[in-house]
Amino acid sequence: MSRKRVAILISGRGSNMQALIEAAKAPDFPAEIVGVFSNKSDAPGLDFARANGVPTATRSHKDFATREDFDAVIDQTLTAWQVDYVCLAGFMRIFSTGFARKWTGRMLNIHPSLLPKYKGLHPHQQALDDGASVHGCTVHWVIPELDDGPAILQAQVPILPGDTAETLAARTLVAEHRIYPEALRMLASGEIAPL
Ligand code: GRF
Repeated sequence: MSRKRVAILISGRGSNMQALIEAAKAPDFPAEIVGVFSNKSDAPGLDFARANGVPTATRSHKDFATREDFDAVIDQTLTAWQVDYVCLAGFMRIFSTGFARKWTGRMLNIHPSLLPKYKGLHPHQQALDDGASVHGCTVHWVIPELDDGPAILQAQVPILPGDTAETLAARTLVAEHRIYPEALRMLASGEIAPL
């Protein structure tokens, strides 16, 4: 079995990154994590990646005059790692259209809502403000429009009386850690069609 080469982009905690790295440790998992890139050199998730032998690279977007210049560095890093797929996992940057177009069909994201509901920031609070009774998360293809690519896999979680954005986020995160590795497995094994 030739395993697909996958890079993960993070900006912070990296718990979804951790779930992907853990899943890829299984010998029959059809993808390997070949690198983790972060725009924050102090992203806590980097420690886990390094401790698990995954190469890391960091560059701050603040060191570049334009979004295009920063994205060019990401592109060079991904190309050097020879990646087949990119998993965004809490990567808090919006891509230039050119970069997003180039990687369309090879880049996934996880968003903590049942897309197309509650795109953008604070999706848990959006769900609570909306009076929703069901929430969840979505693994989707990344296209130039934010949080708008076709869904690959979704999971539902209930909204319970007394929920706050924090309790709902914690419940949703458990589902995220389940479906992100599963979506990557399905994609890398050819069980689901490319975009
Ligand atoms: C997750 O809720 C993910 O869905 C969203 O940002 C959060 C990142 O958390 N895009 P972590 O860094 O994976 O722990």
